[in-house]
This record gives sequence, C-alpha cells and structure tokens, in this order.
Amino acid sequence: MPDERDEVPGTGSSAVGDAGGGVSETEIAVHWQEEEYYEPPASFVAQANLTDPQVYERFSLEHFPDYYTEFADLLDWSKRWDTVLDSSNPPFWRWFVGGELNASYNCIDRHLEQAKNKTALYFVPEPEDEPIEAITYQELFVRVNEFAAYLRDGIGMQRGDRVTVHMPMVSQLAVTMLACARLGVIHSVVFGGFSARACADRIVDSGSSVLITMDGYWRDGKWIDHKEKADQAVEMARQDGRAISSVLIWRRNRGSYGSSFGLVEGRDVVVDDVIGQYRGQRVEPEAMRSEDTLFLMYTSGSTGKPKAAQHSTGGYLSYVTAMSKLILDIKPTDVYWCMADIGWITGHSFIVYGPLALGASSIIYEGSPTYPDPGRPWRLAERLDVNIFHTSPTAIRALRKVGAEEPTKYHYNFKLMVTVGEPIEPDVWRWYYNVVGRRNAAVVDTWWQTENGGFLCSTVPALKPMKPGSAGPGVPGIHPVIYDEDGNEVPAGTGKGGNICIRNPWPGSMLGIWGDPDRYVATYYARYCKDPGSKAWRDWPYFAGDGAMLAKDGYFRILGRIDDVINVAGHRLGTKEIEAAALKVAGVAEAAVVAAHDEVKGVVPEVFVTLLPGVVPSEEFGTQVVDSVVREIGPIARPRKVWLVPDLPKTRSGKIMRRVLASISNRGDIGDVTSLANPEIVEQIQGMVQS
Ligand code: WTA
Repeated sequence: MPDERDEVPGTGSSAVGDAGGGVSETEIAVHWQEEEYYEPPASFVAQANLTDPQVYERFSLEHFPDYYTEFADLLDWSKRWDTVLDSSNPPFWRWFVGGELNASYNCIDRHLEQAKNKTALYFVPEPEDEPIEAITYQELFVRVNEFAAYLRDGIGMQRGDRVTVHMPMVSQLAVTMLACARLGVIHSVVFGGFSARACADRIVDSGSSVLITMDGYWRDGKWIDHKEKADQAVEMARQDGRAISSVLIWRRNRGSYGSSFGLVEGRDVVVDDVIGQYRGQRVEPEAMRSEDTLFLMYTSGSTGKPKAAQHSTGGYLSYVTAMSKLILDIKPTDVYWCMADIGWITGHSFIVYGPLALGASSIIYEGSPTYPDPGRPWRLAERLDVNIFHTSPTAIRALRKVGAEEPTKYHYNFKLMVTVGEPIEPDVWRWYYNVVGRRNAAVVDTWWQTENGGFLCSTVPALKPMKPGSAGPGVPGIHPVIYDEDGNEVPAGTGKGGNICIRNPWPGSMLGIWGDPDRYVATYYARYCKDPGSKAWRDWPYFAGDGAMLAKDGYFRILGRIDDVINVAGHRLGTKEIEAAALKVAGVAEAAVVAAHDEVKGVVPEVFVTLLPGVVPSEEFGTQVVDSVVREIGPIARPRKVWLVPDLPKTRSGKIMRRVLASISNRGDIGDVTSLANPEIVEQIQGMVQS
C-alpha cells in the first residue's frame, strides 16, 4: 500500500530549477513588498534563554572561531578539545579537534541524575483511542542500552559501520538512532514514505549491510504494510551489488506482527522477540572523536543522484544544542512538538538530538496532522500542554485551508512557533501568528539546509522583531552575504536578488559528501572560492544554492532554489530524478519536469512528455508516468499533471526550455520565444494546458 503522507507533510521547503539553464525558483518568486515589524511578546522576552543584545558583538567575525566554544560548552565531553577549528584543509572543516564525546550520553545519561523520571519522548499514535506513551529519560536509557547491546552482541555491529534505517514516526526510531550513536555506528535514516527503490539506492551508496525497519504503521486512518518495502529494497540492493545480511524489524503493536510479508529465514529478525535476551544490559558509550561521523542524511542535488551529507559528532551536536536553546528557546521544562518527520534533517536536529541534549520533552507524532479532523494538532497541543510548536509553511497552509477557525476551539498556549523549509507568504505567516499563536507567541522563520546541521538565518526571538516572509539576519555566529553572478557583494537595501552564501565555517556544517569529496567541493565551495590553493577560511564562502535578497535592516528574504531542485512541501527533489522515472515508461521519448505553483504545497511537479515515433498517445501514459515516479521516488514526488505533448520547446542547440513550460503551467509571462527552434509548439502547448 502506498504511503500517502505527501498529502499534508509536517514540514520541509519550495522551487524550480531548470536543468537546461532556464528559469530558477528565484526568478519566479513572488515579489513581496516590505512588511511591518511585529515585536516579540513581553511574556516571551521575560523568560527567554537569550536576551543579551551583546551576543552579536561577541559572535562577530573578529572573534571567530573562538566564539563557538560557547556552543561546545553546552555538552559533556569525555575529553576536552584542544583546537576549536582545524581549517588546514579547506573546505574540509574539523571542529573541536582532540575532543571526545558520545551523542547518546549527552542526550540521555547526563540527565539521569537530575531528571530520570521526566518524559524524554512522547509517542502519540495516529489512532486517537490508542494511549499516548510517555517515555522517561530512565526508560529511554534502558531501551537504548538494550537495543545497543543487541546490535553489538547479536548482530556484531561496530564503530564506523553504517546502518540504513527505514522507519515511520515511532519512538523506536529515536531509540534506534541513539543506540547506533552509543556504539559509534553511523545511521542513515531514510524517510519512511520513500519507495523501496530510494531505500535501496541509499543502502548501496552508504555501504550498509543491516537494514532496520518496522512491520507497519498508521497513516491517514489506514494501516500501511511497510515490511514489503524492506523485501523489495534488499532485492534491489542485491542486484546493485550490495548484500544486506540482517533485516531487523520492530513491531508497531505489542504482541502481534502486522505485515502480510513473512520473515526470511536467516535474514530477518523481529526485534521485539529477541530484545528480552538483553534485558538489563548496559553498553558503555563509545568515546567518539569530535570529527567522527554521527550520521548520513541524503538530499537531492543538482546532478540527479541523491548525495549523503555526512554530519559530525561534536560539531553537529554542539550546533543543534545551541540552536535549540538560543533560537527555539527550549528549556528542560518545555514540552516541544516538531511536526517534521525524523526522516528529514529537521527531525534529526530538532526532534531527537537538540531537544534531548537539553533534557526537554519531545513529541513524536505518528500520523497525519489532519487526521481524523483538522482539530487534531490543536487537541494534541492542549492535551500535552505543548508550549513550543515547529512546522512548515506547507502544513500551515493546509491547516488553514481545512480549518481556519479550528485553533480557537482549543486551550493551548504556545510561547514560540517555528516555520522551516520554504518561504512563507506574509499572509500565511499572519494567520500562523494571529490565529495559531493568538499574538502571544514569538515566531521564528528558520532558513537552513540538510547540509548545514542547524539554522543559518533566523531572528533571535527575544532580541529582534519579526518580519513576515523574511527569515531574518544570520543567527549569532553566521555571517551571510549575497553575491551576484560575478562574485561582487550585493549590498543591503538595493532590492536586488543574488546568491546567498556564508562567509565563515560553522560547527553544524557537514564534514563532506559521503564517498565523494570532489562533489562536496564542487557543489558548495567552488562557485565563489577566491583561490583554490588558499588555506584561509575567508577565501572559501559556502554557496547555499538559494536566491535571496537583503533588506536595509539586515534581514534576508529567501527566494528559493537556483538549481534544478524542486522544493515540494519543503522537501528537495531533483527534477532529473523525476524525469528519469518518467523516462522509464516504455514509449516515452522525452520528459521535462517543472515546478507548478500550488495553494497548499507551494510548488508541485508537473511533467511534460513526448512519445517515441509511432507510439499512439493514450491516457494510459499519464497514469504510467505518475506510477513510475511514485514507485521510483515515493508519493511525495507525485506529479500533479502529466501532459502528453507533440514536442517540447527547444533552443536551436536542442536544450529543452523548461522555463517556457513553467510559465505555461503557472500562467505567467512566457516572454519572447521567437528564437526557439520550434516556436509554434509553445502556442500549441499553451492551448492544451490553459484551456
Ligand atoms: C528551503 C530543510 C525559505 C531553501 C531544513 C533551502 C527555506 C532548502 C527555509 C533546504 C526558510 C528551508 N525560508 N526557504 N525558512 N528553510 N528553505 O535540505 O530553498 O530539506 O535551500 O532542509 O529549503 O531544504 P532541506
């Protein structure tokens, strides 16, 4: 059964690009006007973690990189570092070198003395009649240790091994990640809604020999049989030369196996059946070097194949802990709910690692935010007395669409609300602030990426006023800049867009792209590197791949992706991956994917295809293209529409003009097409699409 969780995603980002060098999301971005400021509520400021206006001075570039010791000092190190930043091999930055620590220890063990009886994780099942489970720090400690003991002694996993994890939103996912971290095993969590094919590609690329999954789960009122994907993914990985020796299956429901796909003898183990043998076992946390890899997180980039951002232990954990404290304002007493999926970076950083490192209570909600009705999130907030709420523009738009008045019916009290993943329209922002937050909560619009570990731009909620639609200045320590195509700085207040870059390295930044150092340098640092031979970090600005504008007040407004990545409901999808899936359908000759504007998801893919000569067009092709995209990537990439066209608009050199197609889909200005090789096709396609 398909996982339809693309319908109302919890969070994620938005864009089009053009593989052929045409339009970018930036160019089609809406031209917003300057917005009014909103001051943070006095009640918020009175209790905030960060109220010292000197912070920006302390974190100025003059004091770089030493200011980041404030972040590292939030953690417990088994051995203190001796070098804050080793930048001797740019752009491969290494933070807190010489230091040793364990992420699982920092997220669990260190809280036991003071707070073992406090809830670490709430698991909220989608069926509302199933009880919510509150897992204390002590209980999390026990579960993580027992599972780590099994991974080590039962499966033979060791420090440095990779494991692929393909699971839904359940507490066992966090237990799995923390058990891996305890052993120094590198986890690669694949979004549960992704297809078997996507899972297999990540198994192969990461070199995993173990896959951890779950029998099934609830989504939108339906039971999803998830184990089938594991069987398929293992087979696909085998064909691609990677053998999975063990598939570990957690059971969603105590005592009953919920999949119609049986166990493969000698390969599959139901975790719940064996874990009893490890009862009471304790695993000493491995002392990891700061620069050891904690996890891999795959993301789409402009050259088709997904790539894994490789995140460090010490730098990453310091960064997400600091961001959770300073920007999300998390305190140990808070109940915090982030609606993102743990299968994305937001969930790693801001459901699991950051909140737990601070000893807060973090919620894992299994299901769809609008199931069984649009009041669900607000009921949940009321019930658990959530005071920090984190979601995406897509989810906000969807919740507003299905129940604009719903929040007023419930008694909850948010002190802070977060948006992440894509630009938020000021109008949507105002509904979030006025109706969801009742003008009583500070809002932070946090701009960042999978590769970054944590936030790059956002207001510090007690120090800077909010401005709808603008993320804000760099967070303390981050020094962004906008460059034009030639590498000149675009000053503040010119109203001109450009490429947003970061002048300095920061601890949350990835170590590299797993197995592909050249791609890491080429994608993020080659664009504006002043001198490839230079050893000075100042010569290596980070290129984010987003367009942005800088207002006079120092606030950045993010316009969207400039590469051929389309940002659907906050999730980056490569247009080339979608086109490749369309081309798998027999009879399809060419495919072009564009980003079409959508009221709820921001942007959705539309596909234009041509057929091979002699192939008779029929409705069938549309269905087959959609099926192929869902099978290859997952429902999240489902095209809204597939257009069968006689030809695609092309330049005289044969490049497909995706920009023209995007303008047709979005009913925008097509511009001058007379120089195309086949201008007549434009009008024909326009007739089909816009009629
Ligand atoms: C976009 C998600 C505008 C941006 C954390 C970025 C945003 C991409 C925002 C990264 C925001 C993320 N405002 N755009 N607040 N946050 N984006 O890797 O285009 O899934 O490059 O990381 O989402 O998406 P990713």
